[in-house]
Amino acid sequence: AYEDKVKDLLGRMTVQEKLGQIQQLTWTGDTGPGGGQTEQTEAAARAGLLGSVLNIHGARSSNSLQRIAVEESRLGIPLLFGLDVIHGFWTAFPIPLAQASSFDPEVARRDAEVSAKEARSEGVRWTFSPMMDVTHEPRWGRIAESCGEDPCLSAAFAVAKVQGYQGPADGSELSRMDRIAACAKHFVAYGGAEGGRDYNTVDVSEQRLRNLYLPPFKAAVDAGVATVMAAFNTIGGVPAHGNAHTMNSVLKEEWGFKGFVVSDYTGVEELIAHGFAEDGAEAARLALTSGLDMEMVSTNVAVHGEALLSDGLITMERLDDAVTRILQLKFDLGLFDDPYSDESAAVAEPTAAARAASRESAARSMVLLRNEGSVLPLSPVAGSIAVVGPFADSTRLHGTWAGPGASRFPSVSVLDAVREAAPGAKVTHAGQDLTQAVAAAAAAEVTVVVVGEDPELSGEAAVRSDIGLPAGQEELIAAVAATGKPFVVVLVNGRPLVLGDWLESATAVLEAWHPGIEAGHAVADVLFGAVNPGGKLPVTFPRAVGQIPLYYNHESTGRPYDPARPEEKFVSKYLDLADGPRFPFGYGLSYTTFAVSRPQLSQQSIAREALERGETVEVSLTVTNTGDRAGDEVVQLYVHDVAASIAQPVRRLRGFERVTLEPGRSTTVSFRLGAQDLGFWTNDPAGTFTIERGRTDVYTGTSSTTRDCCPLTVV
Ligand code: IFM
Repeated sequence: AYEDKVKDLLGRMTVQEKLGQIQQLTWTGDTGPGGGQTEQTEAAARAGLLGSVLNIHGARSSNSLQRIAVEESRLGIPLLFGLDVIHGFWTAFPIPLAQASSFDPEVARRDAEVSAKEARSEGVRWTFSPMMDVTHEPRWGRIAESCGEDPCLSAAFAVAKVQGYQGPADGSELSRMDRIAACAKHFVAYGGAEGGRDYNTVDVSEQRLRNLYLPPFKAAVDAGVATVMAAFNTIGGVPAHGNAHTMNSVLKEEWGFKGFVVSDYTGVEELIAHGFAEDGAEAARLALTSGLDMEMVSTNVAVHGEALLSDGLITMERLDDAVTRILQLKFDLGLFDDPYSDESAAVAEPTAAARAASRESAARSMVLLRNEGSVLPLSPVAGSIAVVGPFADSTRLHGTWAGPGASRFPSVSVLDAVREAAPGAKVTHAGQDLTQAVAAAAAAEVTVVVVGEDPELSGEAAVRSDIGLPAGQEELIAAVAATGKPFVVVLVNGRPLVLGDWLESATAVLEAWHPGIEAGHAVADVLFGAVNPGGKLPVTFPRAVGQIPLYYNHESTGRPYDPARPEEKFVSKYLDLADGPRFPFGYGLSYTTFAVSRPQLSQQSIAREALERGETVEVSLTVTNTGDRAGDEVVQLYVHDVAASIAQPVRRLRGFERVTLEPGRSTTVSFRLGAQDLGFWTNDPAGTFTIERGRTDVYTGTSSTTRDCCPLTVV
């Protein structure tokens, strides 16, 4: 829509101004202008040699920097302010991994809508979110920012988040006061880092790249995501920041992505450390010619760009293309019409409505792992409840990368929320002191033990080699268990954990993740039954670290383990560990019970040509609430192509729907299986999607271990 204006502006820019436009510099925080890094950033803005600024927020601060760019630079091109608004700006929502546990993309959309409104009012026009890295690595700290191990679930959440930040795919709402530009990150396969060590090598086949890692990005591009961020890792030896295959060929040519690609921090400079570029000039050339459009923090393209141009190592056409993409977004965001934020309209704190949305989302994201003798829900009129453990009174349950609100607005503690929810009960508290905790547990009718990980133990560069409960916590649980009284373990963590033998001793276990600003309230909502838990695991919980990677959608092997013949030696298994995970993908309990019928197909076979024309097969099933209270069930659909030219995953999620049912009520859930569900990508680097003839088993149920199956044949 702004093509002519972009062209006109581009025509008036000097080479230096163009190189400046594709540069992003950082700010030192919400400190206002003046001092240190801010001086360099201000000088660049004044000279018209800067396109974007990272880490600035606050309507007043961003306005004053914007004024320099707009009023003092030669062409007055406004700056684009970006910030990591990952799961909340002022109002922390549950971490993305928790949100994925809801199996309800509306949870992600609501987070994005609230975050966009708050961030935009404080001058932020661009978030580096959503993160959509599929991963099989629970040791990797950034699993907390992901949607777990499945590409279909991750894609659905990526789309909801992009829409929540940006509005419709055509970008028509980008200039609205409650919208910001999104960024699909990290392109690509960052979740595949070997050993879970952040920034590590990823060696991946083309088919796995296309079947596992790329689908959420494709979905985000189709949803109109404005920008994409390159990843820190290599992909088959070629760093993502210099990877012409992924950035130029797949993203821009094959998918027709019209937005721009930003580096991840000093990712361009890191091409040197990767041993891929000899110096900054070569790093700049490799990044730009491979499809990168904006350099964050390091300045290789800006410094070496002119020389590279005059030596013919980069073309003016490529530089103009990068600048055009960036200017186009600035026009779409309305920055040329109104570059400033209304300081009087800043949303300075979480509103009651935002808090309510966060609380509801957090409760919806919790997963009930165990509930022996239906100890949960607790009675709000119970006589006495002990709340113990290192996180019992924690007000830091926002999770990793929770936005500027995390340091200003404490989260509600579980202890406070239990007191609030059970005003008639005697509520006692003990931290991690064993003697005090045991005394409190022995004296109470029931104990709530709040254990898990400090938020600093997950997120970027927060990798653990041992993903059990941190030191002292299992001892605490054992001591509480020894009292013989019922107890509920509430887990607050940013990754799947190896839950030790203590698991069998706990009467109930609730996976609460890092729930955000309303943490305690949401936990209490579930503990006391105001909310019936309906979340499901978006990741496998292994029995032991030695099993990692362990994921439900692994490929068929030639010698699979057969549970009916555990003594069989020459099969894929461990000698010293029971087969399979502690809890599988898609697992989660409820306070009620559900019955799910076997799947019914609208037809038993379909022609490949019909699938290619867009025809689909309907799969339907009935789900009934067979218990005595209202509740949610997540109906899941998986496929398995039994014989294909590339070994297929044993199960592949292709659909899910969370339904709410009153006791005794039933509903029919329908899915449609089409070409995308029955075909797969081959190893052809040019991108070949194939639908092969033969049988596919269609599974439906309430977790990835369902056995309810129906064959469908492609003829
Ligand atoms: O957006 C992030 C990215 O995910 C990790 N490195 C820093 C970027 C900007 O803060």
